[in-house]
Amino acid sequence: MFPGSFDPIHYGHIEVVEKAASLFDHVVVASLSNPQKANPLFSGEERKEMLEESFAHLSGVSVVIVEGVLAATLAKEVGASAIVKGLRAVTDFDNEFQMAQMNHRLTGIDTLFITTSSSRTFISSRLIREVARYGGDVSGLVPDPVAKRLQEKFSE
Ligand code: PNS
Repeated sequence: MFPGSFDPIHYGHIEVVEKAASLFDHVVVASLSNPQKANPLFSGEERKEMLEESFAHLSGVSVVIVEGVLAATLAKEVGASAIVKGLRAVTDFDNEFQMAQMNHRLTGIDTLFITTSSSRTFISSRLIREVARYGGDVSGLVPDPVAKRLQEKFSE
């Protein structure tokens, strides 16, 4: 299971899921609430649609949107053999390491870290939202339908 807040999904996430799909029979992409990130830009329904569009090219990938549930609980429920997370740089590590250990304590499920390519280490949903909000070009960082939705969101 690959958990995240995906607000919105970007090519760093997609790379990690493509790699996970080559390692596992099935990958559940789980959009969850991140209590550190209140007031998401996109609704659960919008995020679900963007995730489904982004993984339409991969067989063996399904998408779930769940609010107010622990990642560990959901991983257990879907029968995940591992939790997959992406690591961009050392700055991600402290927080991810703590979450991996907590998730293991809660369920016994281990976290597998997959790195993104060096050309994608700077991509984050937060920066994508910020660049799009002020009219910057996010093409090549997110799939075209996501770029279109960002543009629509900020012209509302
Ligand atoms: O894409 P993000 O925002 O880095 O993803 C973080 C996410 C959603 C995976 C994390 O906040 C999470 O697991 N949320 C569900 C609540 C939970 O399980 N919290 C305890 C983590 S040890």
